[in-house]
Amino acid sequence: MKFGVLTGGGDCPGLNAAIRAVVRRAAKFGHETVGFLDGWKGLRDDLSRPLTVGDVADLLSKGGTILGSSRTNPFAKEEDAVKVLETLARHRIETLVAIGGDDTLSAAQALHRRGGHVVGVPKTMDNDVSGTDWTFGFHSATAVAVDALERLRDTAGSHHRAIVLEVMGRHAGWVALATGLAGGADATLVPEERYDESALIAKVRAAIQTRGYALVVASEGIDLGPRRGSAGAKDEFGHELLREREVGAELARRIQEATGVESRSAQIGHIQRGGAPELFDRILATRLGACAVDLALAGRFGEVAVLRGPSVIGIPLDEAIGQPKTVTPDWLDLLHTFET
Ligand code: F6P
Repeated sequence: MKFGVLTGGGDCPGLNAAIRAVVRRAAKFGHETVGFLDGWKGLRDDLSRPLTVGDVADLLSKGGTILGSSRTNPFAKEEDAVKVLETLARHRIETLVAIGGDDTLSAAQALHRRGGHVVGVPKTMDNDVSGTDWTFGFHSATAVAVDALERLRDTAGSHHRAIVLEVMGRHAGWVALATGLAGGADATLVPEERYDESALIAKVRAAIQTRGYALVVASEGIDLGPRRGSAGAKDEFGHELLREREVGAELARRIQEATGVESRSAQIGHIQRGGAPELFDRILATRLGACAVDLALAGRFGEVAVLRGPSVIGIPLDEAIGQPKTVTPDWLDLLHTFET
């Protein structure tokens, strides 16, 4: 069987480990792999490179993706969809492994509906793909955010300030939740909960009173209501570029205004997405990449490899896409237990 592989959407730690796993697992059974460049753009524009076992050596610990990525939507226009099918036929690809988040996997499902042989591998630092316990990229990215919060604690403590750390997370607050929990924030704001300014101010005041400083973690996707700073720029899948809304800076302004406490904010943005994958992500990416090849060899096209408890299994792409996996009430209850 000839495999094709692509990485789409935002990069995250573990993508290269997953590419390596696909190539090595396919090679183990005597199959070759071609890499398509820059996500679905590579299939639309026929941009590819061969991937031998030698090409993927030393990739386990490398951040980013050697194939490049993009947020190209190949099924937005019929002529692009035709080009994708033509590229697959030209290269005689018998299975495409699409590694990505909701948008990339939705495009994979569209290809499957058109008769393309495709299997998926979920990735995203946001951990918001349904059907899988965890996505790779999340643990590594969140470790960066926790490290940032620890550093901000030093400055907040020294200057008796309130500091807001803004982290990524559009519809799902997993990164903020884990950062707040693991870093001991005084308040953590996630998109799953309605923004309550008086509750936030009360938590900040209590923290200042008890220990002289306050730390707040906020997902970039929280809704602060009518305010300045919404740029409205969108990507090809129609998602607003949330960093430009700068919710962290806005929260710091509001906290300072309400409490009189000197306040600052930090937006770590794409620093969360780069760097070497941590242990958990290396192993998960390796297991899911290998599982995707096994699904294809078993003829289980239209499925995506996921983590369920201790096992990696295949589930229909439909079950993983369309609805982001958001933070559940039990996690929120635990989170708020440790707030001031
Ligand atoms: O990959 C998802 C994500 O990390 C979101 O949390 C964030 O809003 C977005 O990527 C940022 O994307 P870009 O790299 O296009 O700025």
